Amino acid sequence: MKFFIDTADINEIRDAASYGLLDGVTTNPTLVARTGKPFLQVLREICEVVDGPISAEVTSLDYEGMKREAGELAEIHENIVVKIPLIMEGLKCVRWCYENEIDTNVTLCFSPTQALLAAKAGATYISPFVGRLDDISHDGMDLVAQIIDIYNAYDYETEVLVASVRHPLHVVEAARIGADVCTMPFSVINQLVKHPLTDIGLQKFLEDWKKVPSIPAPAASASIAPAGKGGAKKSPPKRK
Ligand code: E4P
Repeated sequence: MKFFIDTADINEIRDAASYGLLDGVTTNPTLVARTGKPFLQVLREICEVVDGPISAEVTSLDYEGMKREAGELAEIHENIVVKIPLIMEGLKCVRWCYENEIDTNVTLCFSPTQALLAAKAGATYISPFVGRLDDISHDGMDLVAQIIDIYNAYDYETEVLVASVRHPLHVVEAARIGADVCTMPFSVINQLVKHPLTDIGLQKFLEDWKKVPSIPAPAASASIAPAGKGGAKKSPPKRK
């Protein structure tokens, strides 16, 4: 499952990217507004830091306006994915983007029928908002499962991007049901690694380590030979 960060804050993006686990970025008008910077500046800064899909949202509501914005955003960098709201005019623009080889992320998806339309229009990503559904007592992850079933039934290539993620359990469920991407706030990415038993265990190991007697440094001739036959360095496993 790919990990995207859901923020427009360049410091958070830099920090998350430094661990080598970040596959992309999603932004929205609210997140961009929080930075206090102009939209294009925010996008350019992000494109310099992350080499992966970066969602940038259009704000027009009509087809012509969306099409114009989509073209302008796609010109900024090859990694820009145009984020388009799930309304009829938006779907028309998704189709236009598909025909013009512009990647799209169809946002504000709250139902399986909306997701079906987005796939038919040729969306690159569909973004079901799980947290906002949970907020109104609907099961957000159930929507994700339904979308995955529908897309699998017809071999749609649209990737399921779980959005509006609020906590690590959303991430666990997204991974269990085979979502393609999960976009998370910086706080949730940090929560994924935390476990009190890891901290307690580490503390105990370090305390015990202090009790290990130190030995004199070995002579050069007695140094331990490297294991294996040497030769070409193994390449790291392919990341999913
Ligand atoms: C996704 O692309 C959106 O930017 C985001 O996940 C919305 O999340 P929220 O419901 O926490 O605002």
